[in-house]
Amino acid sequence: MVDKKKVFVKTYGCQMNVYDSERMIESFQGKGYTQTDNINQADMILLNTCHIREKAAEKVYSELGRLKTLKAENPNLKIGVAGCVAQAEGQEIINRQPIVDLVVGPQAYHRLPSLIDKVHENKKALDTDFPVEDKFLHLPKRPLSKRGPSAFLTVQEGCDKFCSFCVVPYTRGVEVSRDPTRVVKEAKELVSRGVREVTLLGQNVNAYHGEFEGHSWSLTRLIEELSTIQDLLRIRFTTSHPNDMDEELISAFGTHEKLMPYLHLPVQSGSDRILKAMNRKHTSKSYKQIIKSLRSIRPDLLLSGDFIVGFPGETDLDFQETLDLVREVKFGQAYSFRYSARPGTPAAEKDAVPKEIAVERLHKLQALLTIQQKEVQSNMVGKTLSVLFEKPGRKVGQLIGKSEYLHAVHVVAPTELIGTVKSVKVVESLTNSLSGELLI
Ligand code: SAH
Ligand code: SF4
Ligand code: F3S
Repeated sequence: MVDKKKVFVKTYGCQMNVYDSERMIESFQGKGYTQTDNINQADMILLNTCHIREKAAEKVYSELGRLKTLKAENPNLKIGVAGCVAQAEGQEIINRQPIVDLVVGPQAYHRLPSLIDKVHENKKALDTDFPVEDKFLHLPKRPLSKRGPSAFLTVQEGCDKFCSFCVVPYTRGVEVSRDPTRVVKEAKELVSRGVREVTLLGQNVNAYHGEFEGHSWSLTRLIEELSTIQDLLRIRFTTSHPNDMDEELISAFGTHEKLMPYLHLPVQSGSDRILKAMNRKHTSKSYKQIIKSLRSIRPDLLLSGDFIVGFPGETDLDFQETLDLVREVKFGQAYSFRYSARPGTPAAEKDAVPKEIAVERLHKLQALLTIQQKEVQSNMVGKTLSVLFEKPGRKVGQLIGKSEYLHAVHVVAPTELIGTVKSVKVVESLTNSLSGELLI
């Protein structure tokens, strides 16, 4: 028997890339490949890349530099670049690094099978065109293998918001929502394979508006429909924009039991002047108002956010306003970044804040966010949480799962409990997780 070819995929960036990598692996499987976790055994190495910050994009070129040696040892090795760097730089990647055989942008993944054929014919394959057809219709159907209890499900892609710092509208294209009936069908398939929790993905997931028989389904309507799938126990969604956080969706946190009390709602800055320059179209006040409404409905909601410091023109006062907003709102989880100028975006034309100042601000903000995060986490000690067990933990006899608030929880429990939700009493707050005891 001839050995099957092996594909090794490395994923950078956001959860949508994680979802896309799975889909691309399925395309490779359709072409007779198996997946490998060992890069040295691979016949094809695919980097699924991210362009959001300069560092993220640079990582790709340094990784390609390293792969040069592997390719020198094995000339049959094929190398591919997918994701947002592929979309943004296209042919330039092959010019800069001729070891690359395949460049495919996120809007062209459904054409991967023919691109793989081209690579097999020892030709360079490049496709970064935006589709004229719905790419989701052409992606391979997921094979019916068993999978872990938690899965991502893309419902919406692209963004029309054009925040002045962000590459996403250029790399992922305009906002497109998937047909709700297909989303529901995919969710049912996932559940039949053991999935108990889905995280609905979109660059602006709460702007979802899937068309069904002449009507438009909101994200709330979609959540309602997904809630009727019996063995689907939990629903989450990410990432949301404050301006699309309508009353219907806010109330859903009080009415839909399966919707978990966790929300990632990036604010970026606490200064209205900076928010305006960022083209965010919300204010610090409107953001706080949304959080107030959410907490009046779901007081225990764990809030997560994204922040950018050192945006062009940010003064000390603007930065203080960000710290004030964080102190007032309180985040249980957060991601914060130093502004990175992205070529082609409007903000990149503006004068940068000196690096030392931006670095210092980032440290200050992160120190504050870490305190809040720890506080929220240690407040869980003594509480009873519901944990969806996902996989064995590092220690023998231990399982690891996620609480409704998305904290990782370690519990001594039998493996049969994987895929079930159980009550757990939290006994300790660790660095990035909780440990608890199973309540029977
Ligand atoms: N769609 C989401 C997030 C998209 S990107 C939203 O609207 O909020 C994820 C995060 O990366 C952003 O929230 C932002 O905080 C950060 N980010 C995006 N572009 C950036 C840039 N040029 N420099 C630094 N951080 C950036
Ligand atoms: Fe980027 Fe803004 Fe769109 Fe989010 S809303 S993806 S930050 S342009
Ligand atoms: Fe990065 Fe593209 Fe996601 S730029 S954050 S991989 S949408």
